[in-house]
Amino acid sequence: MIKMKSFQYILITLLLISVSFSMKAQKASAFSDVKENNPSFDSIQWAYVKGIISGNADGTFRPQAFLTEAQFAAMLTRYYAAFQTEAGRYKNLDHTVWSNSTYEALSRFHIPLLGYENPAYRNQPVSRGLLAQVFAYVNGETHELEGAVRYLLKVQISTGQSPQRANLLEQFGANNRLTRTQAVVFFHRLHAQKKIDLAKPLITKKLEARVGSKEAQLAKKLAAQMVDSRVKLKEVSKAEYIKGQQLPAKPTYIKNLLFVNKQYPLPKQFAPGENKTARAQFKKMATEARKSGIRLTAFSTYRSFDYQTSLYKRYVTRDGKKAADRYSARPGYSEHQTGLAFDIGETNQNKHWAATSFGQTPAGKWVAANAHRFGFIMRYPPGKEKVTGFMHESWHFRYVGNEVSKRIYKEGLTLEEYLGI
Ligand code: DAL
Ligand code: ZN
Repeated sequence: MIKMKSFQYILITLLLISVSFSMKAQKASAFSDVKENNPSFDSIQWAYVKGIISGNADGTFRPQAFLTEAQFAAMLTRYYAAFQTEAGRYKNLDHTVWSNSTYEALSRFHIPLLGYENPAYRNQPVSRGLLAQVFAYVNGETHELEGAVRYLLKVQISTGQSPQRANLLEQFGANNRLTRTQAVVFFHRLHAQKKIDLAKPLITKKLEARVGSKEAQLAKKLAAQMVDSRVKLKEVSKAEYIKGQQLPAKPTYIKNLLFVNKQYPLPKQFAPGENKTARAQFKKMATEARKSGIRLTAFSTYRSFDYQTSLYKRYVTRDGKKAADRYSARPGYSEHQTGLAFDIGETNQNKHWAATSFGQTPAGKWVAANAHRFGFIMRYPPGKEKVTGFMHESWHFRYVGNEVSKRIYKEGLTLEEYLGI
């Protein structure tokens, strides 16, 4: 009898162990840097299981990192089925920039975000205030900042950051950056309160418009204008490097043109060599210039990622980073890596090669006035550093094809301006 009892005990104990073991297994964290003792563990697990977050390739979540606006937009799109469906219609836009379909979809619902027209905002941290504007708006409330914050506090999606402050926006921390964990917790609370569907008015007011149409463009402009200026964390220039940006898996094509600048890098492995059409067109140009007694040469064309790395390093050592960044591209950001950029000079006139003085020589003037006839544009014209990101380079020409080069020349545009970036 006693034996029987102890056998039962053993059985029950074993059962309990296995139950608790399987519970533990279920609780195993989705991310190596989110432990069970993290106060937001459940929210992060929930968001992972729901497919709202996927974390980083190395298996981490980086819970305290700031959330970028594009990441926030992506979370929103995964949370609301209506956004997801809409974004699915624009998937083909993502071969240039991954967040394009997301932004395209959110603009149809007039969601206040900054990155529609200025992609630089997409990679910047998003503020808590902007999240409040969006969260209130998708729930059919006002997008106006104070009202939105009041709503979030009232329904207890947020408890605020500094409850002792008298000022409502300071109480909530509207001007502070949103961390990845905070965003997840806000979404989790939204879900816990069964706020799962988009508010009806947003669905009925949804804009039906073709990509690139006037209506679609206007919707983006208006949606960006809805963002309260007090929650714009930082004015971002379109011509500067984006902090922490990683090189992409694919190069960017816009209007069928391979595009590179300080915000649109190339993959490290991208190595097409010198472009044959560009070389043929350069030869034609050189033959034509010869008739005016000018002997042209292309002293630097295709440059590999590794070569650009050594070049850039050398300039930084010589002039310092700040100065070098004005005339030499960081590796992955050089148009020379496309094989379409030609640095042009006059044969045996090495002293004017890659020098501003080239622009004052008869050869430099001839190229500036004629390159467009052969499909080349002056890529870094004078007075456009704020647009192109680089100082004027009288010698650097980019092959874009005759049609585009003629238009850019006639209208006095930069490549950025022509492409509407
Ligand atoms: N000099 C140009 C900007 C480059 O380094 O690609
Ligand atoms: Zn160049």
